[in-house]
Amino acid sequence: MQLPAPRGPVTALLFEALTRPPHEIGPLPGPAGGRAVEDEDLQLALFACYELHYQGFDGVDDGWEWEPSLLAARQVLERRFEEGLAEAVPRPFPAPHALPLHMRRALARLVAADGDGPCLAAFLERKADLGQFREFVTHRSIYHLKEADPHTWAIPRLRGRAKAALVEIQADEYGGGRFERMHSELFRATMRKLDLDDSYGAHLDRVPAITLAIGNVMSLFGLHRRHRGALLGHLAALEMTSSLPNLKYGRGLRRLGGDATACRFYDEHVQADAVHEQIAAHDMCGGFAAEHPALAGDVLYGAACALALDRIFAERLLDRWARGTTSLRAAAPAVGGR
Ligand SMILES: [Fe+2]
Ligand SMILES: [Fe+2]
Repeated sequence: MQLPAPRGPVTALLFEALTRPPHEIGPLPGPAGGRAVEDEDLQLALFACYELHYQGFDGVDDGWEWEPSLLAARQVLERRFEEGLAEAVPRPFPAPHALPLHMRRALARLVAADGDGPCLAAFLERKADLGQFREFVTHRSIYHLKEADPHTWAIPRLRGRAKAALVEIQADEYGGGRFERMHSELFRATMRKLDLDDSYGAHLDRVPAITLAIGNVMSLFGLHRRHRGALLGHLAALEMTSSLPNLKYGRGLRRLGGDATACRFYDEHVQADAVHEQIAAHDMCGGFAAEHPALAGDVLYGAACALALDRIFAERLLDRWARGTTSLRAAAPAVGGR
């Protein structure tokens, strides 16, 4: 993946530094103001910092991953993001009891309370045109091409029942050991069928801050042990809000002419996530909360963050489409040309 084009003073300074060998960088410029989850410069800077822990960027030295001055700068960005999340997402009351059954119910209540949000899935099922469906897939490629990776950070941080449950889910996400069945590969097949470039990070310049924030929140929770409860709740919320929307996405894509290969990613999630949601809510989050009752509130907060960001994302897409415009950013040349 190429470094994307900068979107403001923070990414301009950061990306210029990353093209050179690792060295000490000074403090990054302050915030531009506005909502952190929709701050283009902040979210792209965080995305780039986090990507150093995943696949990295062409021409960026791997030594940057643990450069102390970069980690210090990232911490400042993360604080801004965490404060923005805290403003945007009310902290749900902790589960009344730490029993797995109660955690599952508390998560289900949270998901149900979010049910009256904008229905992007219904729009994609019944009304979206092919261009809009391709836009949706373009946004989602930021996460789906690294699907499961951010939550995998939690595995070495867990033990017991919660760990076994997470590994069971992740094994499915990674195709049960079969490359072609990895969910990220199924998504690449969907992209190819839609004539979209399926290479990792190909659409980074086109997606807005909120799409990046959806990925960044997983990396934030994944890379900090103190957020491990929130990471599990985040995964549970994804699994619990997946089966029905994916059924609708699949129907929408078929309506637009998608064949079995194009729809397989969605079809697979209808089945898999009906099972995953039970494992995630009861065994994983419930098991974790039983062992760490003080962190039960974090689990619910992580779930609430996933739901809130997805709601803002849905609102943006539906708002742009209602106005007859694109939900993507105009294509911009990347640093170093592409
Ligand atoms: Fe998946
Ligand atoms: Fe899943």
